[in-house]
Amino acid sequence: MAVAVLSDAERRKLDDGDDALFYAEPRFVQHLDAAFRSRLTALYRERIPPCAVVLDLMSSWVSHLPEDVHYQDVIGHGLNEQELQANPRLDRHWLQNLNTDQRLPLEDASVDAVLMVAGWQYLQYPEAVAEELLRVVRPRGQVIVAFSNRMFFVKAPQVWTDGSDRDHLTTVARVLMAQGWPRPELIAEDTRAPGPLGWIGAKGDPFFAVIATRPAA
Ligand SMILES: C[S@@+](CC[C@H](N)C(=O)[O-])C[C@H]1O[C@@H](n2cnc3c(N)ncnc32)[C@H](O)[C@@H]1O
Repeated sequence: MAVAVLSDAERRKLDDGDDALFYAEPRFVQHLDAAFRSRLTALYRERIPPCAVVLDLMSSWVSHLPEDVHYQDVIGHGLNEQELQANPRLDRHWLQNLNTDQRLPLEDASVDAVLMVAGWQYLQYPEAVAEELLRVVRPRGQVIVAFSNRMFFVKAPQVWTDGSDRDHLTTVARVLMAQGWPRPELIAEDTRAPGPLGWIGAKGDPFFAVIATRPAA
């Protein structure tokens, strides 16, 4: 049983309709700008060893992994079949609404790295998901939760809509630690807009990440 961190009020969202319906139509768009995506890909290159088993949770048609690195298995999860089918990095995938069922159909200690990009902000029961991640991640494996400052507002629980960027980082860390994850590393960085605008100081989407590593057995 996961250790509760959020209150009932913090789990509420403006649109409480079925998430699967909200994501029924594929969205072949980038949810984050090029500056954010390039920072994320660099982080993956630095942190995820080649040949790792990778789980891209709350994925879409893109996974942001470096194109030239081979991983043993890239497993995708999301809510839209067409998006996941179009994702060239996924070896296999499944659909599951994590707000109705948090149990992951994966073996204990079977994954080296879990990625979650612009996804945590839609979880109403992140504690149960974090508990599951601790089960499926191998010793010394990691969870990398990345996000920026945008969201589908009506689909994000109150804990996210009411919180600042800093609150988001600490909430993700608190939820992970409450389930037994060690204190995560927090990253908060500005990015630079691509091209000429960046040269004159324009910023891209801000980059935030929470990285937790499961201790050696
Ligand atoms: C903003 S998109 C981000 C997609 C992808 N990670 C990316 O980087 O482009 C949010 C994703 O969260 C997932 N998602 C949202 N609500 C969900 C839910 N209740 N259960 C499972 N996945 C959900 C969907 O797969 C959706 O594509």
